Amino acid sequence: TGGSATAVAHPNIALIKYWGKRDEQLLLPRTDSLSMTLDIFPTTTRVRLVPEAEHDEVSLGGAPLEGEARRRVVAFLDLVRERAGSDRRAVVETENTVPTGAGLASSASGFAALAMAAAAAYGLDQDATALSRLARRGSGSASRSIFGDFAIWHAGTDEDGDLGSYAEPVPVDVGELDPALVIAVVNAGPKAVSSREAMRRTVDTSPLYEPWAVSSKDDLADMREALRRADLEAVGEIAERNALGMHATMLAARPAVRYLSAPTLTVLDSVLQLRRDGVPAYATMDAGPNVKVLCRRADAERVAGVVRGAVPGGAVHIAGPGPGARLLDE
Ligand code: DP6
Repeated sequence: TGGSATAVAHPNIALIKYWGKRDEQLLLPRTDSLSMTLDIFPTTTRVRLVPEAEHDEVSLGGAPLEGEARRRVVAFLDLVRERAGSDRRAVVETENTVPTGAGLASSASGFAALAMAAAAAYGLDQDATALSRLARRGSGSASRSIFGDFAIWHAGTDEDGDLGSYAEPVPVDVGELDPALVIAVVNAGPKAVSSREAMRRTVDTSPLYEPWAVSSKDDLADMREALRRADLEAVGEIAERNALGMHATMLAARPAVRYLSAPTLTVLDSVLQLRRDGVPAYATMDAGPNVKVLCRRADAERVAGVVRGAVPGGAVHIAGPGPGARLLDE
């Protein structure tokens, strides 16, 4: 590869959520999670080794990254260098296609693309499982963006440590399920607490955390069964209850973490109305006020119209199942 590689990866949205770590260093989760990779908003990352440089050069959209974001990328490169037995610094250039201010997490696509590009540039020979484990070290949810369509991220066991925690594809008849995610970008308001801090606080202080983690196991089993049957209604119901439960754990944290804003609830009401009108539509929310509505592809335009009416001024995007991370020819 000549010490240079470019990779592209897409975001994923969890239908069974990752919320809570058991190891903050290795980013080992407390529960299994399951997601759909999207076909919109790819992140492209180029990693180029520079023999003489003393520092890594990290940019996003042409502007140098600073602070915590830069620190996380450099720490990730250190991990790759350690494995490759290299001390060469790198130039890392990332282009994100998520509209700015969309409030959609880009750490999943970002670290999936970085893991793939950095592994190739530093000459690490990694299969998809190893890449998923590696991407996890940058951001937990990135482990799932290595794969397309549906992926499950195994929490693993304390005995297996790093090795036991990686994602793999979940076989789903995507044509039969025909899913779409309608993404309602809600006005963000004051910036909420980071997901990393919110997760920690929830695990440490929320009396609802353990019960949710326990019920999430049942949700996952039910979800796998529903996906096997390509039963969109069941998939949606399970995803919605799992997400609402996750937000309940946060609301019970001390102090409470509340990502759901008034416009979020307005969109949730419109989803209920869609269901009353006979349109299967189900909501999931992450560490922010945006709502992702799972529905059939055939209903996506109608769902998008209703959601758009619920959040005047907010943008609405329609996504389908997307591809796994891949290297580009340079
Ligand atoms: C709510 O993967 O961003 O989106 O591992 O600390 O980087 P770190 O967290 P991150 O958390 C994602 C949380 C979530 C749910 C999910 O994607 O499963």
